Amino acid sequence: MKNILVTGGLGYIGSHTVVELYNKGYNPIVLDDKSNSEKSVIDSLKKLTKEDLIVLDVDIKNINSLRENLTKINIDGVIHFAAYKSVGESVNNPLKYYSNNITGIINILMIMQDLNINNFIFSSSCTVYGETNQVPIGEFHPVVEAMSPYGNTKQIGEEIIKDLVSSTDFKAYSLRYFNPIGAHGSGVIGELAYGVPNHLVPYLTQVANGTRGGLNVFGNDYNTIDGTCIRDYIHVVDLAKAHIYALDKLLISKEGRIYDVYNLGTGKGTSVLELISAFEKVNKIKIPYNIVERRSGDVEQAFADVTKANKELNWFAKLSIEDALKSAWKWQSYYDKKQKYK
Ligand code: WQD
Repeated sequence: MKNILVTGGLGYIGSHTVVELYNKGYNPIVLDDKSNSEKSVIDSLKKLTKEDLIVLDVDIKNINSLRENLTKINIDGVIHFAAYKSVGESVNNPLKYYSNNITGIINILMIMQDLNINNFIFSSSCTVYGETNQVPIGEFHPVVEAMSPYGNTKQIGEEIIKDLVSSTDFKAYSLRYFNPIGAHGSGVIGELAYGVPNHLVPYLTQVANGTRGGLNVFGNDYNTIDGTCIRDYIHVVDLAKAHIYALDKLLISKEGRIYDVYNLGTGKGTSVLELISAFEKVNKIKIPYNIVERRSGDVEQAFADVTKANKELNWFAKLSIEDALKSAWKWQSYYDKKQKYK
């Protein structure tokens, strides 16, 4: 059984990836300082995987603690999620983002070199393509000036890996996610939203549970089918599975040096109004909404060309928007119930 370290393994995409690693016969080892998570995720993960799941409470910025913890284990590969991810917060507090996200990737790569671990998967983002109107977006699309410090940390992260691979035998892929939504089918893990959610689906589920009065739809005067923005919403379970396909390919490769990037999305665009209507239909809950001003920084349309991941990783997104919205609501309901009886 191969040991795979998952940094940020208690986070949204990380936790779902831990489950899929386990389902595919890998032994996931979680490293997470719970800075954007909570202990209950460990309990849920243990239920979905195994009781003796290893969870290392380590701040990735602390290289000594990283080294101390990781030298004790034989690790075959690393999937690196641990990073801050709020675009708005990164604009207001850039140093927090550069410090955590850049120090984090450098530290984990340095320890990997020391311990001779050569397989690395990086959690990147479609944000590296910046503001573009060229859809679908393929990997050949230029990586342009980042729109936020957060986006810049993803670009810099990719550059660091590329430079490392040019200098030594090391194998890595950067996976560029489009818009992950939904939750595990069990409803016991999902996207935790502290405070007012920025993303559309966590906001929707908080309107559905009555926490928020209504959804603000940011603009309906875009040049799209119904005037609202188009995004490529991908079920988090499909996204998590893509990591396993990528890892399988890296681990069997005999080449010494590999670096490549893959878009992960469905290849299909959905408008904000279409998403609201799908949520209402599948969960039988009415969502009150208002059309408000455009949100600054939003692009009209962004959806992926996923041909490369389909062909080279043999991975396909299989779950629907409806599956995702049903599971998102199941997760929100589970979480609300748990908070009530706490
Ligand atoms: C989706 C759509 C909003 C909230 C972000 C990051 C990006 C990448 C993916 C990680 C947009 C609209 C939203 C609301 C709304 N992440 N909306 N009302 O902005 O596409 O992308 O996640 O790397 O870097 O920026 O996602 O969920 O915020 O918005 O109308 O209350 O929903 O305008 O069209 P976004 P989102």
